[in-house]
Amino acid sequence: MIRIDAVTKRYPDGTVAVDGLSLEIPDRAITVLVGPSGCGKTTTLRMINRMVEPSEGSILLDGQDIRQQPVNTLRRSMGYVIQNAGLFQHRTILDNIATVPRLLGWSKQKARARAAELMERVGLDTSLAKRYPYQLSGGQQQRVGVARALAADPPVLLMDEPFSAVDPVVRKGLQDELLRIQDELGKTIVFVTHDIDEAVKLGTMVAVLRTGGRLAQFAPPAELLSVPADPFVEDFLGADRGIRRLSFFPSTELELHTAPVVAIDAGTEKLASGGEAAPCLLVTDTDGKPLGWGAPDDLAAGAIDRDRLLPFGRPFVPGKDSLRTALDGAVLSPTGWAVAVDEEGRAVGVVSQQMIGEAIRAAHAEGRPDAKAAR
Ligand SMILES: Nc1ncnc2c1ncn2[C@@H]1O[C@H](COP(=O)(O)OP(=O)(O)O)[C@@H](O)[C@H]1O
Ligand SMILES: [Mg+2]
Repeated sequence: MIRIDAVTKRYPDGTVAVDGLSLEIPDRAITVLVGPSGCGKTTTLRMINRMVEPSEGSILLDGQDIRQQPVNTLRRSMGYVIQNAGLFQHRTILDNIATVPRLLGWSKQKARARAAELMERVGLDTSLAKRYPYQLSGGQQQRVGVARALAADPPVLLMDEPFSAVDPVVRKGLQDELLRIQDELGKTIVFVTHDIDEAVKLGTMVAVLRTGGRLAQFAPPAELLSVPADPFVEDFLGADRGIRRLSFFPSTELELHTAPVVAIDAGTEKLASGGEAAPCLLVTDTDGKPLGWGAPDDLAAGAIDRDRLLPFGRPFVPGKDSLRTALDGAVLSPTGWAVAVDEEGRAVGVVSQQMIGEAIRAAHAEGRPDAKAAR
């Protein structure tokens, strides 16, 4: 565990970048430091690997003051990723990633083999190995930065706004990739961002800092969204707090109706029934995949015209998706009913906005959101 204990950083010009900060950063989880520009995030991160020394207080790694370790040993146990990746422009991608293993004295062959393995791990095609950084897109360079930081398999990863410079679509891909890698590798990650949505998506724990390097709140993201500590945190979280919090509640408890789901080849009699629960019937293809909503009377008349079916919005996968996704599906659907599908996309039932509303109230009453339902 990394423990930041009453740390203050005063730069020589008198700027107090971090002020009396205490944090317990859990092992094998992502802890996000978030806050407006200039609130001391980078300074805090750099104190963890001693690129910056605290003016007061101490930082402990597994109970030991980090000042008691040689700085090189400390840094080797901590991969470091920065915005724009900070790659060596005159080295190939493979050699960039192999940097630290080479410094550690690995043979060229072994270091390159490791680098190739990491390229795959971070979702880079190994055909890019011999290119130079300028020949890669921003998102690809950022992946190289992550691979380089992971090369010597350090237990700790420090990431300073690593995805801030790429466009939203690429950024989402990088975030998803980081979560996937983290599931596999279980690193202790300290991740800095100024983007609260990124913090909520990635963080197991989120530390919100305010200007002057003071801690405003340290909590799991769902708790941050439900009980912001003060108006500053509330304001920083922005609009839609309630809706966003729903991403932490699983959709497993929703009771699905199957009667309104009918296959297109079911025959007109079948198509006329099942309309008690839902005003419309969800028509599927013969594989069970949803095609759209139809009115029972139209369907019973035998005139199933696929093109006349109403769209069914965005389906959700119970157990995988959150209540937020289910609610979104219902809101997007012209019938007000969301469609539940299995992993193969086959309809497993439908659920109304009203029933989702009841599940939301029940979930709120129970209080504890499921952190894993997020994302
Ligand atoms: N080397 C330095 N000398 C003096 N002031 C600095 C130095 N580095 C950062 N600062 C100041 O410390 C504060 C926090 O900076 P920083 O940790 O970079 O914030 P953040 O990463 O949250 O944007 C800012 O006011 C910044 O101007
Ligand atoms: Mg910064």
